[in-house]
Amino acid sequence: MEKTGRERGIIPRCPEDTRHLLRAACRAALGAGAFIADQMHRPHRITMKGSIDLVTETDVAAEAMICASLAEDTPGIAIMTEERVASHRVAADRFWVVDPLDGTTNFAHGFPFFAVSIGLLDRGRPEVGVVYTPVSNELFYAARGCGAWLNDRPIAVTGTDRLIASLIGTGFPYAIEERLPQVMRHLERLLPRVRDVRRAGAAALDLAYVACGRLDGFYEIDLKPWDTAAGWLLVEEAGGQVTTLSGQPYSAFIPEILATNSALHRQLLDVFP
Ligand code: IPD
Ligand code: CA
Ligand code: CA
Repeated sequence: MEKTGRERGIIPRCPEDTRHLLRAACRAALGAGAFIADQMHRPHRITMKGSIDLVTETDVAAEAMICASLAEDTPGIAIMTEERVASHRVAADRFWVVDPLDGTTNFAHGFPFFAVSIGLLDRGRPEVGVVYTPVSNELFYAARGCGAWLNDRPIAVTGTDRLIASLIGTGFPYAIEERLPQVMRHLERLLPRVRDVRRAGAAALDLAYVACGRLDGFYEIDLKPWDTAAGWLLVEEAGGQVTTLSGQPYSAFIPEILATNSALHRQLLDVFP
């Protein structure tokens, strides 16, 4: 029997306070995800945020649903969300970071690779992370020290230790004109050294794919906290490693990320000098 939103996303042996936060994030992600799936085949009202950066009415409505759900379950915890620009400055130590629809371009084109991403940062460290894709009804979730899970099962990164046997994900920045030389330089060095590269179009889900072993690594240069807060924890809790492209400790407020299965981390750092 299908589990309800309140039953999904429970990690055994996870402290009760963390479990409560995880349950809140899962409930919000599942609710918004169901709504997004329902909207997928309807016409969209598209607003441009830049020449290729778009937002639909579904992003905004999903965001409102998530905020209402989190506020009900975890009153008092601030929320930073992508589409509410006023929320981008948060004074609190601990706050939710929400991408209501990661992969909006895919969503708007009916390309079925997008997700809801909800992370909880505490003094900059991710404590809880949830990425939910309604297309395949896959709920990825993690809590610090409690592992990473997909639906009912624990997940782990791959053991691939040779670049030539690896599948690597990436993404392209919206400010592509400015960033094109760097994007091309990275691809030029990477492509001959790996089995293949994927640009699937939803960074939070790409990170979840590293966590569950569908990708061996992922990198991107212009991301925001809502793209990575949840996926960062998924990768680390699944046994992977996350740094900047120069190997510095990662922060969700640093735009560039390299997330790998650990075994390939050094080799990938050498690709991006
Ligand atoms: C975008 C997606 C995309 C990545 C962009 C992100 P959005 O998020 O994650 O894969 O390449 O950098 O901004 O705009 O669809 O939420
Ligand atoms: Ca995003
Ligand atoms: Ca988004």
